[in-house]
Amino acid sequence: MSSSIKIYSQKDFEGLRKAGKVAAHILDYITPFVQIGITTDELDTLCYKEILKNGAIPACLGYNGYPKTTCISLNHVICHGIPSPRKLANGDILNIDVTVIVDGYYGDTSRMYFVGKPSAKALELIDTTYAALMSAIDIVRPGVKLGDIGYVIQNFVENKKFSVVRDYCGHGTGKVFHDEPAVLHFGKPNTGEELLPGYVFTIEPMINVGGYKSRLMSDGWTAITADHSLSAQFEHTIGVTEDGCEIFTESLMGFSKPPYGFERK
Ligand code: MF3
Ligand code: CO
Ligand code: CO
Repeated sequence: MSSSIKIYSQKDFEGLRKAGKVAAHILDYITPFVQIGITTDELDTLCYKEILKNGAIPACLGYNGYPKTTCISLNHVICHGIPSPRKLANGDILNIDVTVIVDGYYGDTSRMYFVGKPSAKALELIDTTYAALMSAIDIVRPGVKLGDIGYVIQNFVENKKFSVVRDYCGHGTGKVFHDEPAVLHFGKPNTGEELLPGYVFTIEPMINVGGYKSRLMSDGWTAITADHSLSAQFEHTIGVTEDGCEIFTESLMGFSKPPYGFERK
């Protein structure tokens, strides 16, 4: 049986590079605004305007009825937090997730931020989540299987006594927002689909301090940890090449994980 995962061409990769750059630029751009006292709505509006200024389309706005440009997930929110009048307060950790469309190509990326002085545990969670994403990206090349990606992340994270969210995953993308395959952030080595050059997908592990279980809030979007423990996430869109992979959504400013240098003392 042949798989239905799309193979993107070199020309597509050029388009994906452009879209990924704009998405990464938005996260770079918003960084100095992430300060105590700003509302997540204000951060969302700034991203919206900067996306339009770059000639791009905000992919989340109106997607399945989603009401905002970004997802901003604070503290115990796992993902799909809806920007609101909530002001950032000392010690908050947050994920900002941006997806843009440029010439029909999607760029989907997220990073963690913090304001003031989060707990040592929160900072360790952020570091571990970033390292988990990058250790998975490190192994991506043709012949590696999807289960290997999940295994690398789960093994790394559970060794640090954190947990991997099961209910949300990475996804194929490219000319479609959410496509096959589902990219699970847990799994067994040497299982699942074998990667081929031209595959394009996200890896976006969501990692919790406590248990892995999630709960969906009554707004139908906001996913939180069932035990209210802190959660963190980073996301890149990548393309499989002949001998490895290309990260389309790398920061243009060298921003990988916080501290970014704009945090308030
Ligand atoms: N950007 C998210 C992802 O990584 C999707 C958000 S969909 C929305 O797949 F509708 F919640 F914005
Ligand atoms: Co995604
Ligand atoms: Co995303």
